[in-house]
Amino acid sequence: MRIRDYAAADAPALAELYHRSVRGIGPRDYSARQVEAWASLAPTPEEIHRRYTDGRTALVAVDGGDHPLAFGDIEADGHIGFFYRAPEAAGTGATTALHDALEATALAAGLARIHVEASEAAKRFLLSRGFAVIKRRDLLIGDVPIHNFAMEKWLR
Ligand SMILES: CC(C)(COP(=O)(O)OP(=O)(O)OC[C@H]1O[C@@H](n2cnc3c(N)ncnc32)[C@H](O)[C@@H]1OP(=O)(O)O)[C@@H](O)C(=O)NCCC(=O)NCCS
Repeated sequence: MRIRDYAAADAPALAELYHRSVRGIGPRDYSARQVEAWASLAPTPEEIHRRYTDGRTALVAVDGGDHPLAFGDIEADGHIGFFYRAPEAAGTGATTALHDALEATALAAGLARIHVEASEAAKRFLLSRGFAVIKRRDLLIGDVPIHNFAMEKWLR
């Protein structure tokens, strides 16, 4: 397992990984209706590519065969956007390595703070990495109520 920069050829695999992650891990914390609503927000490969060539840092955790296990991104202001692990990649170290690489990017840029809107699963993981919850966010996707958490971590 290693972390590398996003490459254009990754876009279809990352779009597919997003779907599998939401459908495979989402049901631990969210209802079937909520998971469907969340999956409806899944980006197309074209949307991923546009987003990941806009200047932000986009990183991919890959296995020995260069297949994506997890991916995530961080913007210049320290905002973490996507943070998704493939269901079958539990225990590979991909989530931890991805998080550490995103944080290292922020540190290298001299940022004081990183922040994210975290799902329940992301909240559990990020609490263990020194993030704090700012507030719960109650949202609607279409007519489906769902929630996440605004979280932040001060780096210095
Ligand atoms: C958010 C997310 C990336 C967090 O990652 P995670 O790996 O589930 O985090 P956890 O706190 O459960 O796991 C922490 C560690 O325990 C490991 N672990 C979790 N379940 C495990 C299992 N069943 N067996 C072995 N190890 C397991 C994880 O792999 C991780 O270790 P690693 O990074 O060394 O591999 C992931 O849950 C995910 O993709 N969720 C769905 C999409 C989502 O909510 N994205 C965030 C949007 S804000």
